Amino acid sequence: MSTAKSDIKKVTTHQLQEMKNRGEKISMLTAYDYSMARILDAAGVDVILVGDSASNVMAGHETTLPITLDQMIYHASSVIRAINRALVVVDLPFGSYQGNSSEALRSAIRIMKESGAHAVKMEGGVEIKESVLRIISAGIPVMGHLGLMPQSIYKFGTYVVRAKEEEEANKLISDAQILEASGCFGLVLEKIPASLSKIVTGQLQIPTIGIGAGADVDGQVLVTHDLLGINNEFHPRFLRTYANLQSVISTAVTSYIEDVKSKDFPNANECY
Ligand code: KIV
Repeated sequence: MSTAKSDIKKVTTHQLQEMKNRGEKISMLTAYDYSMARILDAAGVDVILVGDSASNVMAGHETTLPITLDQMIYHASSVIRAINRALVVVDLPFGSYQGNSSEALRSAIRIMKESGAHAVKMEGGVEIKESVLRIISAGIPVMGHLGLMPQSIYKFGTYVVRAKEEEEANKLISDAQILEASGCFGLVLEKIPASLSKIVTGQLQIPTIGIGAGADVDGQVLVTHDLLGINNEFHPRFLRTYANLQSVISTAVTSYIEDVKSKDFPNANECY
C-alpha cells in the first residue's frame, strides 16, 4: 500500500530536541534540487540543508559568497516540492543578514514565504544575536552555525580547523550559549576539535550537528555530493565517501557516446 503524503510523520524542530534527549543521532545532508531531495527524503534523512554550498557545488564558485537570496529561494523551493518527511533548513546567504536585524528578518521572511522552507540557518555568534532574536520572534526557527564559517573565509584566510587556540575556543563556547539563549533550535559545528564539540554539546540543551567536529555531537551533516563521490577532488579528513558516482556517471556517459558513434543506439526496440 502506498503512503499518502499526509500519513507521513514530518520531522519538526521539537522532534530533533526529543532525539537529542533520548540519545538518538540526527542525520542531515545537503540538497539543492528536486531530484536529489526526493531520494534523500525517501531514504529517511531527518534534516535536509539547502546550504549556501550550492554556490560551490551547483554554480562552481570558489566560495559561498556569490550566491544570492533569490538563488537560495530557487534552490529551496525545488527541494521543498520533493519533501514528504524531512525538516528543510535553508542557509541565509552572505549579504542577506549581516547588515542589520531588519534586513535579516526581511531575508528570512522571503525564504519562508517564497520557498515554503521550515527554518533558516545563519553563521555567527554574538554578532548576529539581535537578528536571531528578531527572526525567532517572527515565528521562524533558526539554526546557528559556529566554527569554520565559510561566509567569513576572507577573514579567516584559510579553511583549516578552527578554535584550536584557547581564546577562539572560549569565544565559540560563549557564542554557542548565546545562540541557545536567543532561541536557536540547533547548532552546526564545523571543523573544530572533537574535544571542543564534546564540551559544547554537553553544555547545551539544544542539539548540535557536526561536520568535521568528531563523534560527540548530536548529529552529523555532510555535503551530499561529497559523500556520493561526485566531487572527487575534495578529500578532507572528516569526509567518508559512500560511493564513487563520478566514475559511475563517467562510465555510463562514455558508453552512451560509444553507442551513438557506433550507431548501436537506438536499436529497433528503441524506435517507434
Ligand atoms: O552550506 C553548507 O553546505 C553547510 C554545511 C557544510 C553545514 O553549511
